[in-house]
Amino acid sequence: MLTLDNVGFALEEDEQKVHILKGVNLQLEAGKMYAITGPNGSGKSSVLKTIMGIFLPTEGKVEFQGQDITNLSVTERARMGIGYAFQQPARFKGLKVKDLLEVAMHDDDITDCKYLRNMGLCPDDYLERPLDSSLSGGEMKRIEIATLLAQDPTVRLFDEPEAGIDLWSFTQLINVVKESHYEDKITVIISHQEKILTMVDEIILVVDGHIEMKGSSESVWPQVRDYSGCACFNSCTKEGEIYADCPR
Ligand SMILES: Nc1ncnc2c1ncn2[C@@H]1O[C@H](COP(=O)(O)OP(=O)(O)O)[C@@H](O)[C@H]1O
Ligand SMILES: [Mg+2]
Repeated sequence: MLTLDNVGFALEEDEQKVHILKGVNLQLEAGKMYAITGPNGSGKSSVLKTIMGIFLPTEGKVEFQGQDITNLSVTERARMGIGYAFQQPARFKGLKVKDLLEVAMHDDDITDCKYLRNMGLCPDDYLERPLDSSLSGGEMKRIEIATLLAQDPTVRLFDEPEAGIDLWSFTQLINVVKESHYEDKITVIISHQEKILTMVDEIILVVDGHIEMKGSSESVWPQVRDYSGCACFNSCTKEGEIYADCPR
């Protein structure tokens, strides 16, 4: 179980406090798959960053397997089995694709890297490539996801894996994520894709830094789908009114 208990995250900007997350409560159970969805800038990535320890909450508590991890570093959390595939993966000057995968992979043979293959990248073409701007955004994204799959942590956090990925790789990605989701794992995927939102056990809708709705995919998906005409999921749409009346 991974728990976020009343988690808040605020940043100082121009001597003003900007509240990015407010009172986020989540209980993520082992064996379940979750999708986080919601408008751009609502705080989805920030939720995953507080789980990974990239953001340390300014309020509340994060617990994993009964242990308070609120103030643990990214490295400590990674050792405990939490892994995150960034929305915008970083490029590492001086490193090659194989260096990243070698760190992530346990005992597997790097030359037959099925993780790259599964993401539609031929290991022969990619293992020696430098992790620099010669790789496109989509290639970086697929390498990032392959690295998380190779690492195979207990908690797998995928931040918009669909971005920059072609349809074939996307279908393959869904299959691989599903197949590698064992009973002890917690998989969380930030996504706007119907295929993902209908595949998971639960959907978490994040709006304006808080959790607006959460529940089984069957119960939440129809509501999310119906509101998708409005980018902010604001109360005007909940009342069934017309999107043009949205205050934003
Ligand atoms: N490091 C940061 N500095 C300042 N503002 C940030 C930072 N990270 C996120 N934000 C702001 O927090 C809000 C939520 O961001 P994010 O979690 O990335 O949203 P989402 O993933 O839902 O698009 C946005 O308004 C974003 O601009
Ligand atoms: Mg994001």
